[in-house]
Amino acid sequence: MQKNIALIYGDCSSPEIVAQAVRVLDKIAAKHGHTFTYTRAYMGGEAIDKFGDPLPPSELNTCLAADSVLLGAVGGPKWEGLPGEKRPEKGLLRLRAGMGLYSNNRPAKIWPQLAQASPLKESIVAKGIDFIVVRELIGGVYFGEHKTETVNGEQRATDSMCYAEHEIERIGRIGFETAQKRRKNLTCVDKANVLDTSRLWRAVMHRLQAEYPDVTYREMFVDNAAMQICKDPSQFDVIVTENMFGDILSDEASEITGSIGMVPSSSLGEGTRGLYEPIHGSAPDIAGKDIVNPTACILSAAMMLRYSFGLAAEADEMEAAVSAVLDAGLRTADIWQPGCEKIGCTAMGDAILARL
Ligand code: IPM
Ligand code: MG
Repeated sequence: MQKNIALIYGDCSSPEIVAQAVRVLDKIAAKHGHTFTYTRAYMGGEAIDKFGDPLPPSELNTCLAADSVLLGAVGGPKWEGLPGEKRPEKGLLRLRAGMGLYSNNRPAKIWPQLAQASPLKESIVAKGIDFIVVRELIGGVYFGEHKTETVNGEQRATDSMCYAEHEIERIGRIGFETAQKRRKNLTCVDKANVLDTSRLWRAVMHRLQAEYPDVTYREMFVDNAAMQICKDPSQFDVIVTENMFGDILSDEASEITGSIGMVPSSSLGEGTRGLYEPIHGSAPDIAGKDIVNPTACILSAAMMLRYSFGLAAEADEMEAAVSAVLDAGLRTADIWQPGCEKIGCTAMGDAILARL
């Protein structure tokens, strides 16, 4: 198989993890007779430095022309003072929208080797943590009107949240279909006691529910969901939710599995071209020290093979190599625990490569 992958190296410590993911992709390609070529695209802080724009049209076009896109993470203190439109994060939002990626899939699964790293009590972890947050990615408050104005002598800011039925329906279907492939249990998370958008979500979800009678469906307010995720995460199989609730809950979900440094994500729309990225940020505090955990980025590359290229066996091998490294007691600093060997980013890449 021949595929072209657009690579966005990203900011701060992000280039270090993308470099390791590329090594792993090259090894798996050589082993299975595939050819992966790479085209570099600039987005976020690096694009601001190079072009004065977090996502110039040329860079979006590079991504649209590729078979899929692998990203590290963007942002950092260097660009923090910039106005909203010019911030690195805006590049990411424009990339997601420009590629039509409405469905973001963030798995929260405990690695048995890391169970002790979970901040939750052993008795809670023992019940199992294995769910997916299906987050709507290109609508809601992230993409509503943003404005700051002066009213009656003071500043007033507005961010509006808006959802149309078709935007809810297409992500709702992904929620039901994801549940059908798993334990057939779907929770729609919202704030229907306060928000009109949430009430519309419920109305659309009720219509869809009739089409998926094999899925057990329920609704939960987001404040309660935040509580239930730390109280008893074993009750969740698939969560479907709007953009901002999904942003918040997926960070919580990743943390209870032991480390945000282990969690990959896929973003897809119509068709197979996706954007694959770790859910963590660019970790500016540890940039350039070769200590960042490359695992989430490597697992994101595995997701790309599985979901965009249909290479399930290759993805399985990459995930098994990660698991074998954990079995061997090798840990980056974020997941280190007494009795394990602490290694850096490149050494983590080496260790995974050695098990492929
Ligand atoms: C994420 C991040 C982004 C988001 C930021 C960087 C804009 O937190 O992917 O979860 O809020 O979507
Ligand atoms: Mg986030």
